[in-house]
Amino acid sequence: MVHPGWVCLLHSLLLLARARQSRGPAGACPLQGKSDLNSFLWTIKRDPPSYFFGTIHVPYTRVWDFIPENSKKAFQQSHVVYFELDLTDPYTISALTSCQLLPQGENLQDVLPRDIYRRLKQHLEYVKLMMPSWMTPDQRGKGLYADYLFNAIAGNWERKRPVWVMLMVNSLTEVDIKSRGVPVLDLYLAQEAERLRKQTGAVEKVEEQCHPLNGLNFSQVIFALNQTLLQQESLRAGSFQIPYTTEDLIKHYNCGDLSSIIFNHDTSQVPNFINATLPAHERITAQEIDSYFRQELIYKRNERMGRRVKDLLEEYPDKSFFFAFGAAENFPKLC
Ligand SMILES: *[C@@H]1O[C@H](CO)[C@@H](O)[C@H](O)[C@H]1NC(C)=O
Ligand SMILES: *[C@@H]1O[C@H](CO)[C@@H](O)[C@H](O)[C@H]1NC(C)=O
Ligand SMILES: *[C@@H]1O[C@H](CO)[C@@H](O)[C@H](O)[C@H]1NC(C)=O
Repeated sequence: MVHPGWVCLLHSLLLLARARQSRGPAGACPLQGKSDLNSFLWTIKRDPPSYFFGTIHVPYTRVWDFIPENSKKAFQQSHVVYFELDLTDPYTISALTSCQLLPQGENLQDVLPRDIYRRLKQHLEYVKLMMPSWMTPDQRGKGLYADYLFNAIAGNWERKRPVWVMLMVNSLTEVDIKSRGVPVLDLYLAQEAERLRKQTGAVEKVEEQCHPLNGLNFSQVIFALNQTLLQQESLRAGSFQIPYTTEDLIKHYNCGDLSSIIFNHDTSQVPNFINATLPAHERITAQEIDSYFRQELIYKRNERMGRRVKDLLEEYPDKSFFFAFGAAENFPKLC
């Protein structure tokens, strides 16, 4: 069963990280019309063939029409579909929830510096107040209520670990709220695989994605949370605009522009903290967080996933696999 309230926390983190932007028209590829532009499909030549497909973590309706027929056909013809995480397993959700919580008996108020706690609380009150006006008529038409959505995302915030609260705050912007309610592409594929009664599986465990985030140390997390709040506060004051990076990502994906999606070496994995105007010692902290994430969430993870794919292919030579992994985000999708 797929959890309808399955919402992504890291999504906006990634998107915020993409500082460079170009405001394109509603995510359409400018070269639209050439139907094979998007080609995030790789064939593993064996009999029957297996495939790698690069997914993206945005509402599937924004990209589906740009995905070429050969990719959709490969999906349909495969026996077994593998994702990074098993999004259809209720255990995934409960494991994630508990991994995000503070130890029993602890609350954020006990853990955070007083100033940060106060600003966090204030910001969440603001979000709650604004939520009804951020939602689209379409969302309301689907029976999505602001209170419900707020609680689904932020309901238990006082019990979350600071790093998860930081990611949560990043996912509570107007743009992100407006895209709630439509499954993201990877979740949509999982739902389709289930509907088509394919065998499904995952190459990673929730803990493998979650624990590295919990491994940042206290001063790093406080720094990140403080920066996130500062960003949101200036956004509220109207002195800072969140770049339309989701649109940018969608456009690159729809154009099949792999290089600008993946080989974005200066992309930070945390919100855009590496702000050239940061004082030197803060810039160092931002860089330390960035290299920690790169090591734990990209390099180690790629190796682990690579090993598991290889084992699966060797163990089941007569199955046709479809591996659907994130193309854009070299980042876990805990959602
Ligand atoms: C956190 O980690 C950084 C970088 O490894 C280190 O410089 C800093 O002293 C650590 N802080 C705490 C509170 O452990
Ligand atoms: C938050 O960041 C600002 C600006 O970098 C700094 O002046 C302030 O001391 C920080 N607050 C905390 C609690 O770390
Ligand atoms: C960079 O930092 C300065 C000073 O803290 C702030 O005014 C500005 O809005 C920041 N820019 C971004 C893109 O975060």
